Amino acid sequence: MDIDQTGPDPSVRELIAQRQALSMHARDGLLLEEVPLAAIADALGTPAWVYGAGTIRARLAQLRRAFAPTRVHYAVKANDHLAVLRLMAQGGAGADVVSEGEMRRALAAGIAPAHIVFSGTGKTRAELEAALAAGIGQINAESVAEIDMIAAAAALTGRTARIALRINPDVAAGTHDKISTGRAGDKFGIPWGEAAEVYARAATLARVEPVGLALHIGSQIVATAPYRAAWERLRALTLALRQAGHRVTRLDAGGGLGIAYRDETTVSPEALAGALGELLGDLDVETMIEPGRWLVAPAGVLLASVVLNKEDGAIVVIDAAMNDLARPAMYGAWHGIVPLDAATATRPAAPRMVVGPVCESSDIFARNRRLPPLPANSRVAILDAGAYGAVMSSVYNARPLAPIAMVDGAHWTTIRERQPVAAMWAGETIPEFLSG
Ligand code: LLP
Repeated sequence: MDIDQTGPDPSVRELIAQRQALSMHARDGLLLEEVPLAAIADALGTPAWVYGAGTIRARLAQLRRAFAPTRVHYAVKANDHLAVLRLMAQGGAGADVVSEGEMRRALAAGIAPAHIVFSGTGKTRAELEAALAAGIGQINAESVAEIDMIAAAAALTGRTARIALRINPDVAAGTHDKISTGRAGDKFGIPWGEAAEVYARAATLARVEPVGLALHIGSQIVATAPYRAAWERLRALTLALRQAGHRVTRLDAGGGLGIAYRDETTVSPEALAGALGELLGDLDVETMIEPGRWLVAPAGVLLASVVLNKEDGAIVVIDAAMNDLARPAMYGAWHGIVPLDAATATRPAAPRMVVGPVCESSDIFARNRRLPPLPANSRVAILDAGAYGAVMSSVYNARPLAPIAMVDGAHWTTIRERQPVAAMWAGETIPEFLSG
């Protein structure tokens, strides 16, 4: 997913052809589902996010079908908008959350507490108490110290904590360094060699019920082999724990399923589900997965307008920036860029750099990207922005959070207004001693 990847980029036509949610209409331009994105840009201005409800629904249905009877817990961090969470609830997904805030969002959107898993390396005592009080279904514990905190929180709330031990299987996911989580030395999980001992100890604690194991080896994984290696360890550990007399009834096989941002060869959910079934299917356990990106990334775009061109169009400055979509600046991530206008999209392409207005040299969306001329005021969609897009936005450079629209078939509506400028400092005060 490298911004500097070599080899010819997919053309605008190819980018659209490879994405079920998108089509180019001669008169109406680029459509997400059946809605012309230009209409949304006209109404909301740019930058603006657009999510396709029909697309999210279809992807969740495909994933659940492929993995059944494995339960799907949507990783809320990928896109935590309440409307997205409501789609997950309606489509039969639970939630994987990593903070009290995410838990509250999932509950507010109608996801049943029993279908929420609380993951994360640094859950605080207050968060654990809140989770137990809310009756959430499972806590994925990542350390001995955390298990002790869970026991204390359970004693205080009078609830029994069902925990799964998140193990670190020491497997390289073959993904970007910053989103690899399952190697020895990564900050996540309990080293798999110590898991049996920790499990045994947890079983002795009052109001703590170890129900199984969990792992998550990384994100944007496009091969089956790392999953197989990790799940083999999960299997072996399950058998060893049972041998030692422990009950293991749940296995959380993680998230991380990658998508094709550019032209990556990916793993289909069906193929991955096959591997899961092969390795964990006969263990008589309840299996679960916690995908985020795969469900929502291709369902979202970020709309932007061209502010101006520099150097005869070699540099195109748009009004979206790294504070809106951080992935290119943060990981060198490649995102497709497509003009909203059909005629513009067919003009001869030339290499261009597409940049945002933020005062950082990393505020670049594309380098050496073959794109048609993009004159001032023309508009583009930045693709696959439905995951780790709006959730990672900041107000850096005092740029307000962009609005969000949701499309469903031929309809669309605003699901978040553009943040008013003064709202950016609404919580700030100028202290008394600075008066006058
Ligand atoms: N479960 C756990 C414990 C996780 O840490 C994550 C992601 C997921 C599930 C979901 O992974 P997914 O299916 O979405 O790959 N901001 C980065 C991605 C960070 C992922 C962090 N953990 C990006 O924009 O690529």
